[in-house]
Amino acid sequence: MAEKIVHVPLGDRAYDVHVGTSLIAAAENHIAPLLRRKRVFVVTEDRVGPLHLASLREGLGGIACEVLELPAGEGTKSWPYLTQVVEWLLDGRCERGDVVVAFGGGVIGDLVGFAAAILRRGVRFVQVPTSLLAQVDSSVGGKTGINTRHGKNLVGAFHQPSLVLADVGLLETMRPRDFLAGYGEVVKYGLLGDAAFFEWLEAHGPDLSRDTELRIEAVRHSVQMKADIVVRDETEQGDRALLNLGHTFCHALEAATGYGDRLLHGEGVAVGCALAFDLSARLNLCSQEDPSRVRGHLQAMGMPRDLSDIPGDLPDAEALLDLMGQDKKVLDGKLRFILARGLGQAFVTSDVPAAAVLETLRASGDAFR
Ligand code: GLY
Repeated sequence: MAEKIVHVPLGDRAYDVHVGTSLIAAAENHIAPLLRRKRVFVVTEDRVGPLHLASLREGLGGIACEVLELPAGEGTKSWPYLTQVVEWLLDGRCERGDVVVAFGGGVIGDLVGFAAAILRRGVRFVQVPTSLLAQVDSSVGGKTGINTRHGKNLVGAFHQPSLVLADVGLLETMRPRDFLAGYGEVVKYGLLGDAAFFEWLEAHGPDLSRDTELRIEAVRHSVQMKADIVVRDETEQGDRALLNLGHTFCHALEAATGYGDRLLHGEGVAVGCALAFDLSARLNLCSQEDPSRVRGHLQAMGMPRDLSDIPGDLPDAEALLDLMGQDKKVLDGKLRFILARGLGQAFVTSDVPAAAVLETLRASGDAFR
């Protein structure tokens, strides 16, 4: 069993992220030390449950588990399902000292983490992320929440998990498209702060889906980068915003496409990263070669890179810019962008002329048409 541990040193909220194989099979060993009584509440979804719930139950051994299975999909990250999870936990007499387990991708992790944050003013929870995106990003760092009709992640709380078990064996049953979407967040780490990691991904990215050791290393490296940033800036007063590279564009595109199968979140991040580098080059912050290199790698991975790669019609550039105004990163009415001075050199700025954003969007919509 290969296993690596990334420690997230957040004082009395410190925790470990285990990255490896067979972690589900050893779930009892990992989770039992957190419990006051041998019982956990597991929330999962209906694509993960049929594939992996039996293994988790077996791995939990002598720990009793109550299970709630919700529909898969972004629509579950919403008020009605938050109510359902909270009421289910209360019906099951989940106490302050109990532990809730989020067993699924980013949707389940964010929703269940938020339910844990507000239940009895905060119960502990364990993330068992089952998607690449959740393993490298959303399960670590304590951002929890739901979407509303006003936009994504607009209601939520910072609530750190007590443990994360990132079992890369679970990724083997992912749809290739979902795996690649998660890869958008992996590339993001290289682009925002580690050019050498981006180069490593250029060399090894295409082999990740079939090589367990490479997968473990990609997840571990991403988690370590995220942990370093979260420790510096847990509540996003500064550096943590770097993790939103590509996300200002992505959130507008997701809103425009209905948060559905037309554009998965990680695909939006990939397109958003390409656009962030385009915009940076347009503003003469980075070289013209950088966006081409980003696009080249995304293309080699078979990922979308431009608005023209998104199926169906999109709103025009002005309407997309308007959707960006709903982003949480708006400060004093000004859009904040994560731009880059080169590969691995991202920074936060509010000093971006709307005209340059509109040009970037228009050029991307026209690309290769
Ligand atoms: N996914 C961005 C963050 O956790 O800050």
